[in-house]
Amino acid sequence: MSDPSSFLLPASRIPKAWYNLNADLGEPIPPSLHPATRQPAGPDDLAAIFPENLIMQEVTTDRWVEIPEPVRDVYALWRPTPLLRAVRLEKALQTPARIYYKYEGVSPGGSHKPNTAVAQAYYNKVAGTKRLATETGAGQWGSSLALACSLFDLECTVYMVRVSYDQKPYRKMMMHTWGADVFPSPSDQTEFGKSVLAQDPDCPGSLGIAISEAIEDTVTSKNTKYSLGSVLNHVVLHQTVIGQEAVEQMEMAGETPDSIIGCVGGGSNFAGLAFPFLRDKIAGKANCRVIAVEPTACPSMTKGDLRYDHGDTAGMTPLMMMKTLGHNFMPPPIHAGGLRYHGMAPMVSHAQKLGLMEAIALAQTHVFESAVQFARTEGIVPAPESAHAVAAAMDEAIAAREAGEKRVILFGLSGHGMLDLSSYERFLSGDLQDV
Ligand SMILES: Cc1ncc(COP(=O)(O)O)c(C=O)c1O
Repeated sequence: MSDPSSFLLPASRIPKAWYNLNADLGEPIPPSLHPATRQPAGPDDLAAIFPENLIMQEVTTDRWVEIPEPVRDVYALWRPTPLLRAVRLEKALQTPARIYYKYEGVSPGGSHKPNTAVAQAYYNKVAGTKRLATETGAGQWGSSLALACSLFDLECTVYMVRVSYDQKPYRKMMMHTWGADVFPSPSDQTEFGKSVLAQDPDCPGSLGIAISEAIEDTVTSKNTKYSLGSVLNHVVLHQTVIGQEAVEQMEMAGETPDSIIGCVGGGSNFAGLAFPFLRDKIAGKANCRVIAVEPTACPSMTKGDLRYDHGDTAGMTPLMMMKTLGHNFMPPPIHAGGLRYHGMAPMVSHAQKLGLMEAIALAQTHVFESAVQFARTEGIVPAPESAHAVAAAMDEAIAAREAGEKRVILFGLSGHGMLDLSSYERFLSGDLQDV
């Protein structure tokens, strides 16, 4: 056989702690502010929506946070995830670059999202929560939380962005199978949803609106907490299992990445992959380029401002210092539903400000073109969100060919696209435009 192209770790190598980049940043992240007083939000301000154990993780500056055994036990269902070398793609691109990808699509939900869903369900369970309310875009997050709630015996209510609810019925069915209730957002279940529908009965919805609905549900119900699938510090923290495993797997492959690439919606899979590598970069031990890829239709990192803004459309969440297009921004209904979010994780925004990483934006037809070539060479059909990272990695490999350089590229393949085939069908029939 030729050189190995897959790098696998045993279950004993599932990380024992999550890594907090916050501990290694010279300049601390600005605190989040109370939405009414604009004073730094304390743990009490968050207690209505999150359990105390997760609030502590949100504000911690400890470098390592131990992963509880029951969470590692569930992780063992699919972790450690594989690191693969895309040898057939390299050949097709005739590039001297070596392309590696860390594949999170092997989880039961089909993406990286269960890494934090399982942790959040566990911490809520031990804190006495009975029900979790959340939002979802394309359904990846909602289905991951539905899975986690079923494993830890919690009820789950999901507000799903209407355009995805209509276009992507299979993830709704997954959520039902795992026992969750699912409503299209804007919905008639909340006062905010009703107010949006009164103005625009055909509103396609957005993550910002769905978050407002889930929070309203939480604060008006008993024994219910809210759960967010991206953006917040504790979510980013939970995702660092990806990068920690990848650091070890790249060592197994005998490689040091020159570029690390991930797609960004709220920033969690990108941060999860990149932050453990950034640790070495900050320490002066590595000098890789770290690149976040977003859609041109929702360019929070490349066109947004760095300022305090709400995480939701109704303005109920604390104000966070982040790259944002404004909490009223209504992204066009592109096929990467999970990348339609107006803001960016404060930790990722801060890392960009400190010059630790860069961001680029790609148009969806280019993204699908690359994803199809990837599927035809490597076999895996990427989720449309992940396909942004695929396209950027391929562009980088082509640039390496043109420069005649043997660059080592690592990208995050955050999920598979087997429930997004209608988007591929539209692309293949020439029916998909850039917006
Ligand atoms: C497969 C996949 N990748 C990426 C994302 C974007 O989220 P994040 O930036 O938090 O990783 C999503 C969001 O739904 C997703 O489903």
